[in-house]
Amino acid sequence: MVGRSSFLIVANRLPVDRIVEQDGTASWRRSPGGLVTAIAPVMQRRHGAWLGWSGAPDEELEPFEQDGMHLISIPLSAEEIELYYEGFSNATLWPLYHDVVATPVFERRMWEAYRAVNERFARAAAEHAEEGAVVWVQDYQLQLVPSMLRELRPDLRIGFFLHIPFPPVELFWQLPWRRELVQGLLGADLVGFQLPGGAANFRRLCRRLLGVPYKGNEIFLEDRVVRTQAFPISVDFGELDEMVRRPEVVSRAKEIRMELGDPEHMLLGVDRLDYTKGIGQRLEAFGELLKDGLISPGEAVFVQIATPSRERVEEYRRLRDDIELQVGRINGETSEFGSQPIQYFHQSYPKDELAALYLAADVMVVTPLRDGMNLVAKEYVSCHHDLHGALVLSEFAGAADELRQAFLVNPYDVEGVKRQMLAAMRATPHELARRMRTMRRRVATYDVDRWAGEFLNSLESPAASDPATSHS
Ligand code: ADP
Ligand code: G6P
Repeated sequence: MVGRSSFLIVANRLPVDRIVEQDGTASWRRSPGGLVTAIAPVMQRRHGAWLGWSGAPDEELEPFEQDGMHLISIPLSAEEIELYYEGFSNATLWPLYHDVVATPVFERRMWEAYRAVNERFARAAAEHAEEGAVVWVQDYQLQLVPSMLRELRPDLRIGFFLHIPFPPVELFWQLPWRRELVQGLLGADLVGFQLPGGAANFRRLCRRLLGVPYKGNEIFLEDRVVRTQAFPISVDFGELDEMVRRPEVVSRAKEIRMELGDPEHMLLGVDRLDYTKGIGQRLEAFGELLKDGLISPGEAVFVQIATPSRERVEEYRRLRDDIELQVGRINGETSEFGSQPIQYFHQSYPKDELAALYLAADVMVVTPLRDGMNLVAKEYVSCHHDLHGALVLSEFAGAADELRQAFLVNPYDVEGVKRQMLAAMRATPHELARRMRTMRRRVATYDVDRWAGEFLNSLESPAASDPATSHS
């Protein structure tokens, strides 16, 4: 008999990755990406269980406790990793939902694997949920789970949150399995999106594809109402704000600047190495500022941290080569003895080291071509109680809706990015403080607990016009 929970998170990944060394010793490391950053603190403060994959092939693990969370591992075979995770999730849906900035791959074998793995997640959730439990399904890898789970367990309250953008109807229409995916999502009681625009795209799509009517936030199925709403995700502001006040983080930030040769301006980029992040665009702009003589090599250093990501997917392999070539080219053309304008690191770092980097940086450069939210932007803001620091932020990141006082840029416009980078470097302390104060107020108020609280409250209160509840 399995242990059952009244609250379940279902996500493709567990919050920790299992790392097996060459000598066979195994350990756990925080999984990459914003989903884990956001949900882990929420889970640590609530009792419940998290179902997900451990990050390695063919691993059958007993449920276990880690960092104050109860974790249940769902195994994936090597073939499923290739077809469901690298394939349909990350070579089909990821580019399709991000404005087709890369060309999506449409392959039937990938779709079949996606369906089979979603079925496995739904069965596991059904098995571990107690009567009437709340089940919160996460992200694009598991869009069929809500309807599969409802079929198995109609007693559950099912929520779904999409961490990435939901595309306009005209793009989604390309998907050969568009009906199945939309029907999968409509198994939820509440479907959450980062921005109101994503929720509106979804409602329009439901009407056009399935002919189902909607009014306001509610979609009317024959026997139920599905609510759709935007819940912009956020960070653990309190944790970061506390972390950057610790003496060891403050002195590490100073040390980082010294190790960089104490430049006048330290610019920083922190991203998964993903083609949606616009890393090439920002490096190009920085390189041109150097070549145009608008900044000198000793005056500014650009630190680019790029976390390894999805390394077996073709587009990601190509991106890594392109970025590394570009860094080499710009440094080759602009370095002087003893100073390299771009410092590039293809590594993951612990949270306190990232916090020290954020604290050290004068200008944070976040230039995605499309991004659901971008938590890095909100993390940077959370780390600047000193009110120093400028955020250069793409208009195509969800975060730009809230952080209006950032130096906003269109990442496709190199001249515009150069102008805003320079403006950020040259702004007066007064100007920076004014912008930072407003942005901090926003992130401190709408932190990740508020995000989760609002989603779960909404999920647990029935829709006003739900026929199942209106006559009770
Ligand atoms: P995405 O979810 O697409 O990766 P986000 O910006 O929303 O983008 O979230 C990225 C998360 O990953 C942030 O919490 C950030 O701190 C973390 N992160 C990014 N780069 C690194 C790194 N090199 N080492 C450790 N954590 C990282
Ligand atoms: C984004 C996605 C998450 C994903 C993360 C890391 O944040 O929205 O669902 O977990 O990137 O990507 P990965 O493929 O390594 O899980």
